[in-house]
Amino acid sequence: MTDPREVPRVTLAGSVAMPMVGFGTWPMRGHKAREAVLNALRAGYRHVDTATMYANEDEVGHAWRDSGLPRQEVFLTSKLRARDAGREREVLSGTLLALGTDYLDLWLVHWPPRGKSSVSAWRELLALRDEGLARAVGVSNYSLPLIDELIEATGEAPAVNQIHWNPRRYDPGLLNGLRQRGVAVEGYSPLKDTNLDDPVLTEIAWAHAVTPAQVVLRWHLEHGVAVIAKSADPKRIVTNLRLFGFSLDPEEVARVDALAAR
Ligand SMILES: NC(=O)c1ccc[n+]([C@@H]2O[C@H](COP(=O)([O-])OP(=O)(O)OC[C@H]3O[C@@H](n4cnc5c(N)ncnc54)[C@H](OP(=O)(O)O)[C@@H]3O)[C@@H](O)[C@H]2O)c1
Repeated sequence: MTDPREVPRVTLAGSVAMPMVGFGTWPMRGHKAREAVLNALRAGYRHVDTATMYANEDEVGHAWRDSGLPRQEVFLTSKLRARDAGREREVLSGTLLALGTDYLDLWLVHWPPRGKSSVSAWRELLALRDEGLARAVGVSNYSLPLIDELIEATGEAPAVNQIHWNPRRYDPGLLNGLRQRGVAVEGYSPLKDTNLDDPVLTEIAWAHAVTPAQVVLRWHLEHGVAVIAKSADPKRIVTNLRLFGFSLDPEEVARVDALAAR
């Protein structure tokens, strides 16, 4: 098990501390989801990523209660489906009921509704946050121009943009743009679109006596990017969180960055 206190936290707007390594739950459902999330909590994860679209909020809630951990020790993220824009309050009530909690730590708009920023949905998320139903609110899969529309309309930036991120997608311009706007970056699909046999990754892994997957996850943290990886495998659940006994030096980080150019 990894001591959860070793996992760094990023402070989101409203002084909400988010563990920078989270556990992904898509596409697990039913017993598989419940067992994997329970294994993750036992392994030391304290941040679980679900969504209405994943149809596993109920199992995530059961796993959290099975773990016996107090609610405030587990950071729960869920997401509003794009097609549910306009039904925010009703959908959040269903999410909270399924998870068995009276608040979320982070609620995201999963995709831009109809490809638009949807200021009306964003206003609803802010209002529900202000009522205490979510500690922080943000977006996922939003471009910088769409985020700027939300900021211009409401004066409030999303706390987080959860985006597809891995070495092949490294984009310093996007990273800086989100930083300048005060938006924390959370990367999804860190492993499945990465060639874990790439010699750059295997060489760095060998030098640190870790796996290429651990190098990729650690690379996110070196860039200050929160990362969520999914695994149903009990051993990989454990090793994907073992990221704190080594670090990458600037040259190693630059070598992984350069995989984007290939
Ligand atoms: N906001 C969005 O639009 C969005 C989109 C996609 C995903 N997400 C979230 O992000 C999470 C992670 O993304 P993802 O599931 O797409 O991709 P991922 O975590 O990069 O990859 C998961 C795949 O990698 C395998 N894997 C896990 N650990 C491994 C390791 N150490 N070595 C080799 N293979 C490993 C898993 O297999 P095993 O299970 O067999 O280990 C699984 O097939 C999702 O679960 C979801 O919560 C969000």
